[in-house]
Amino acid sequence: MASLWQIAFASAPNIFGATVTAALFITFLNLVRRIFSTASLPSNLPWVGVGKFNNCLGRAKSNLASIFHLKNLLDEGYAKYSKNDKTYVLPYFINGPQVVLPPSQISWLMEQADDVLSQELVNREFLQADYAFFHANMVDNPVHPDIIQHQLTKKLGNFTDDIADEVLAALDEYWGTDTEEWREVKVYDTMLPIISRISIRVFMGRQLCRNKTFTSICGNYIRKVALAAAAISLFPNFLKPFVGPIFTVFDYILYRRCRSFLMPIIHDRLDELRRPDVLKITSEDPQGRNDYVQWALDHAFAKPVVNPVEFDPRVIASRFSVLAFAAIQSSVITLTNAIFDIAASSECAESLTTLRKEVLDIAEDATATPWSKTALSRMTHLDSALRESLRLNGFVERGIMKKVVAPEGVTLPDGSHIPCGTKVGISGYSIHHDEANYPDANKYDAFRFARGHETEGKKRPQRLVNTSDIFMSFSHGSHSCPGRFFAANQLKTALGHIALLYDIEPIADRPVNKWFFGHIAPPLTETLRVRRRKM
Ligand code: HEM
Ligand SMILES: *[C@@H]1O[C@H](CO)[C@@H](O)[C@H](O)[C@H]1NC(C)=O
Ligand SMILES: *[C@@H]1O[C@H](CO)[C@@H](O)[C@H](O)[C@H]1NC(C)=O
Ligand SMILES: *[C@@H]1O[C@H](CO)[C@@H](O)[C@H](O)[C@H]1NC(C)=O
Repeated sequence: MASLWQIAFASAPNIFGATVTAALFITFLNLVRRIFSTASLPSNLPWVGVGKFNNCLGRAKSNLASIFHLKNLLDEGYAKYSKNDKTYVLPYFINGPQVVLPPSQISWLMEQADDVLSQELVNREFLQADYAFFHANMVDNPVHPDIIQHQLTKKLGNFTDDIADEVLAALDEYWGTDTEEWREVKVYDTMLPIISRISIRVFMGRQLCRNKTFTSICGNYIRKVALAAAAISLFPNFLKPFVGPIFTVFDYILYRRCRSFLMPIIHDRLDELRRPDVLKITSEDPQGRNDYVQWALDHAFAKPVVNPVEFDPRVIASRFSVLAFAAIQSSVITLTNAIFDIAASSECAESLTTLRKEVLDIAEDATATPWSKTALSRMTHLDSALRESLRLNGFVERGIMKKVVAPEGVTLPDGSHIPCGTKVGISGYSIHHDEANYPDANKYDAFRFARGHETEGKKRPQRLVNTSDIFMSFSHGSHSCPGRFFAANQLKTALGHIALLYDIEPIADRPVNKWFFGHIAPPLTETLRVRRRKM
């Protein structure tokens, strides 16, 4: 007996070692297969980046190019095929090629039902959300666009004073109040706490937004999701549940810390619900509470059939952390890009003067409270400066990308049939950089959209939130970003204050944005010199 146990123990490490070796070997074979594979796409669809080889070697070449040079592949595909109204295949090594339609087929793409083409699945896969977001997949709806649409966006008007107050306090702290000396600031590193504070102020109130531990947890949570998602994507599906936790261990720690702040609040609210004298807390909550926890509860009650899962504190907490990620990172990146675009444009000083004047003119108009929803909607130059930066330097390449979920596949307008599981869509990047849509397309022209745009109908200023088939930074159609109204509000208030309060020293060259697959990172470490203006 004893010797049997000894043998079992002695061989345990060997079994473990053998399993890991086998798993790595399978992963390797799978990657090799992927690199040469046609992904069951019909042979009449041309691949970009294959050079002279129209075979598996060509596909391997273009798959490798997709890692760091996706931009070149997109430019080639757009010029060669899209401009000739043809469909092409864009390799995307980590999670499979994408079929790119010409712009004339956008309306076809938008008309397809969600049970034929699913946009949500692409986003989930892009971020590997099932493995990178803890518990997010406990329910179907990890981020809850509904709460953003029905609670946050509706109540935005109530938050404008809070947002302005927080922007001012955060700028004082991170960009300083010295009107004499220029100060060198790391743009991304200062925008991160500033935007985190604004977003948390709106989501969870003043007390938590002033707690630096909490804002830093929220601002850093799954911040490097692009890297974790890429790493997880390399593994075959059956191994992802095992490797996922390895690549996301630091985020898991952050998530647990975030949860420890929220749990007492959630439990208090739930306890109140159980008290006999309070039948139901509604948005007309007598204590006027207006924060994410309240929205989540209100939302759960508003359903015809109340689902108990929606009251699980862990579900509420995990959805909050994913929402904080979606809201904070996208706005930090966008504002960082916009500030660099303004600083590096030849009209830097003039642009800041125009923005400042716009803010002051509207603030002086006695009929409007500065920074109210109505006042903000009149600040069309602020809209334009941000929209133009998103057009030129948006952080995702795709415009509308969907995955075929109909089991029998789908027939494209050109007659090609693509199987279930394939991704098909439009590249926003290509459309945003087409001279036919935007003259001088590679130039940052801050007030391009304030002057109005002829190809978009009447010459009217284009608002930041208005998506179209030539502006897809928030995607377009029924799955466009539900957070864009909130984003516009906080970004305009922040950039408006920056223009009002600071001079920015112009720079000669815009630091480049780095591509990693379809993620486009802003300058992360570069600095600018700023100085508070004398008022
Ligand atoms: C400038 C800032 C932002 C940009 C450029 C942006 C961009 C986008 C894009 C392109 C998508 C579509 C992704 C896809 O379908 O593949 C999206 C979806 C989404 N965004 Fe944003 N976003 C921003 C801010 C925000 C904010 C502030 C929030 C939350 C308050 C938010 C919440 C969401 C959610 C929940 C989705 C998923 C929608 C769904 O699944 O139907 N976003 N965003
Ligand atoms: C939001 O503002 C409106 C109008 O100012 C007010 O009637 C309402 O009570 C506010 N709601 C909350 C939840 O604060
Ligand atoms: C943040 O909140 C935590 C928990 O409530 C508290 O222990 C900590 O002291 C707070 N930190 C700051 C800087 O206020
Ligand atoms: C948004 O853009 C579309 C298409 O260009 C246009 O028809 C619509 O009027 C615009 N809406 C707003 C509010 O500007």
